[in-house]
Amino acid sequence: MANTELDLLREQLEVCDGKILSALLERNVLVEQIIRCKEKNNINILQPDQEKMQIDFLTTKTENDRNQKEILSVFSSIIKNSKRIEARELFDCNIFLIGFMGTGKTTVSNFFGDLFAMKSFEMDQVIAEREGMSISDIFATHGEQYFRDLETGLLVEAQGMKNTVISCGGGTPMRQSNVDEMRKSGKIVLLTATPETIYDRVKDSHARPVIENNKNVPFISELMEKRRPKYEAAADIIIYTDNKTPLEICEEIVQKLKA
Ligand code: S3P
Repeated sequence: MANTELDLLREQLEVCDGKILSALLERNVLVEQIIRCKEKNNINILQPDQEKMQIDFLTTKTENDRNQKEILSVFSSIIKNSKRIEARELFDCNIFLIGFMGTGKTTVSNFFGDLFAMKSFEMDQVIAEREGMSISDIFATHGEQYFRDLETGLLVEAQGMKNTVISCGGGTPMRQSNVDEMRKSGKIVLLTATPETIYDRVKDSHARPVIENNKNVPFISELMEKRRPKYEAAADIIIYTDNKTPLEICEEIVQKLKA
């Protein structure tokens, strides 16, 4: 008797799962349609406020349910999956952010990663963690070449990664083999800014040995000019970051990658 009851309950559960599955399939199609609708009508792709509204709606709807936490956690996964679907519709590759020190690579890569539920990492941070010392100490102890070889090794590793945003070191694209590695698995996005903006962003930091003893606009400007041909040759797209929010920069990246 008890078994019959259990079997019945399990059958009902299966029906329930079927409904959830149908709803998910329908939802995924809608997510794709929304992207296409935004593209067709030239509407901004990125609308983080919309996500906030969705979460508020679900939170209110479940506020008296004792399983609210569990339900919201399921929706958090659903929303993450939607972001992955959106990313796949728009670009399906790794994204490498390159550019001079202080152009916002780290901030933008974290922001972009969140928007599309992509993994993200900063090359300098991974290198410093693995070596157990800061970038400045690596330069001082082993020299710049040693550091540059670590950068190249890390980019070779990145070939095994998917859907990852990688914030490169400012000097990474100076080696053609590094650019070749990036090209194999992703798109290269160059962030840039005026020397004045860059000076303003880096002036209080001591983490950049290349400019540590020359933190001034003329030096920054000269080094940027020296590097510019290689940055521009490497870039699939170029984004000027002065006076723009991370959201505006990410929207521009998406629009340019699509184009
Ligand atoms: C460097 C930039 C730094 C870091 C190292 C060398 C460069 O990265 O990789 O200090 O040569 O421009 P950020 O651009 O992230 O500061």
